[in-house]
Amino acid sequence: MKLNLISKDLNDTNKIGELLAKYAFRGEVLTLSGDLGAGKTTLTKSIGKGLGIKDEINSPTFNILKCYFNEPISLYHIDAYRLEDVRPEQKDIGLEEVIEGNGLAVIEWPIYIDEMIPFDSLSIKISFNEDGSRSFDFDTLSPKYFHILEAIKKEFCNA
Ligand SMILES: Nc1ncnc2c1ncn2[C@@H]1O[C@H](COP(=O)(O)OP(=O)(O)O)[C@@H](O)[C@H]1O
Ligand SMILES: [Mg+2]
Repeated sequence: MKLNLISKDLNDTNKIGELLAKYAFRGEVLTLSGDLGAGKTTLTKSIGKGLGIKDEINSPTFNILKCYFNEPISLYHIDAYRLEDVRPEQKDIGLEEVIEGNGLAVIEWPIYIDEMIPFDSLSIKISFNEDGSRSFDFDTLSPKYFHILEAIKKEFCNA
């Protein structure tokens, strides 16, 4: 299932993040693709806020994985950017434990850990539009996200 939302500004991106948080569940895997500066980390910050996380969420580029323990849903923020040139057998970042854990895994640059991304994940590609807005393209093969995407679409467009 696919869904396209246009984010005109930071406020819209925050709205999308808060809706993703509202419908997040334990074991969810969300991948964020898009060029540098597209808004992947910005979206992750609003997701964290929506989940009720008080700590500041910043780019985990130097840690690759940052854990924000939280009830009822923790946030695991992964930035695989630095794994581009790492061989697959050396890419063990504990992703499986995280995915099976008690939270939402948000993965920036999933392309660099492609072989570790479960098929039943939700992917968002963020791209730049000429007018400065951002295009958010949601895509998933997993039916467990279908009602979530319907709800996000409805609530984003009515907000
Ligand atoms: N609609 C928008 N959604 C998200 N970010 C936006 C938007 N418009 C402008 N920005 C700006 O773009 C930048 C996105 O940076 P960041 O989230 O770090 O990107 P990435 O993690 O994809 O490299 C931020 O400076 C943010 O303020
Ligand atoms: Mg980033």
